[in-house]
Amino acid sequence: MMYSKNNYKIYFMENEKEVERLSIKVDSDKWVEKYIQPLAKNVDSITIIDLGCGPGTIACSVARNYPDSTIYAIDNSKTKIDEIQKNINSYKLNNIYGMLSDAYSLPFNENTFDIVYCRFLLEYLDNPNEILKEMFIVTKTNGTVLIQDLDGQLLWHYPIDNELQNKIVKVVNYLNKTTGFDQFIGRKLYNLFFTSRFYDIDIKIETYHLFAGKIDEFNHKIWDLKLDIAMPKIIEVLGEFEALSFKKQMLEYFLREDTLTYSTLFTVTGKKPCYDNIEL
Ligand SMILES: C[S@@+](CC[C@H](N)C(=O)[O-])C[C@H]1O[C@@H](n2cnc3c(N)ncnc32)[C@H](O)[C@@H]1O
Repeated sequence: MMYSKNNYKIYFMENEKEVERLSIKVDSDKWVEKYIQPLAKNVDSITIIDLGCGPGTIACSVARNYPDSTIYAIDNSKTKIDEIQKNINSYKLNNIYGMLSDAYSLPFNENTFDIVYCRFLLEYLDNPNEILKEMFIVTKTNGTVLIQDLDGQLLWHYPIDNELQNKIVKVVNYLNKTTGFDQFIGRKLYNLFFTSRFYDIDIKIETYHLFAGKIDEFNHKIWDLKLDIAMPKIIEVLGEFEALSFKKQMLEYFLREDTLTYSTLFTVTGKKPCYDNIEL
């Protein structure tokens, strides 16, 4: 069940396998150490939002690593919020709250949080400006917003298999048109922060997918899951027969010794200025 107050397009990857995919594909403690620790080092009891938190793997890790903090893990999928609750119970955490809410309309007062972050959310939403606006409002003056998202997901491979590449482009364009999925959101983040009036904007770029030669078993499983989850949409654009052969071709491409697949990961942070004179 999905909740979207503003009737924006809903998350097309909603599926019973999605919780498993999101839970296994991140080393959450490492992620927290790398991206949250530098932002949290001068604050004692931090208040944090994880927006579009999925099953809460990362949010629970923040809660474990920062026991004096308070974390709101927000998602508009009831399935994800139920999963977070299970994780909260199993770790016996008392400083994190799973909350069913829409990222376009956050139920908090202005100037409430020290850190507001989202990971792999904006790529799925068709109005990222509005999300930045919401994040800006609930962040404290001089607090930090962090957004992490991809650029070039699904798209970049060499050598090019023309038949496969044509299908990829068809699928990606269809997802873009029908769901708002933006495969180039990463490169747009700096401008989004800039136009939303953040200061001290910092940008990091890393590789995310990087398969040179035969893909390993773990990543093969992740892609298998991902393509299964996206299958209803792929069938809508390619038809059932072509969609299944697309999945097979894609996985076979990853198994080749002579191919390279990559995408880039953008992590952008910015601080909220005192905005008495800024019109929101
Ligand atoms: C790709 S998952 C990312 C999950 C998690 N942040 C991670 O890094 O693993 C995107 C999540 O955003 C949630 N989502 C999509 N649209 C949303 C919205 N409008 N408001 C809140 N959450 C949303 C989805 O339900 C899903 O759990």
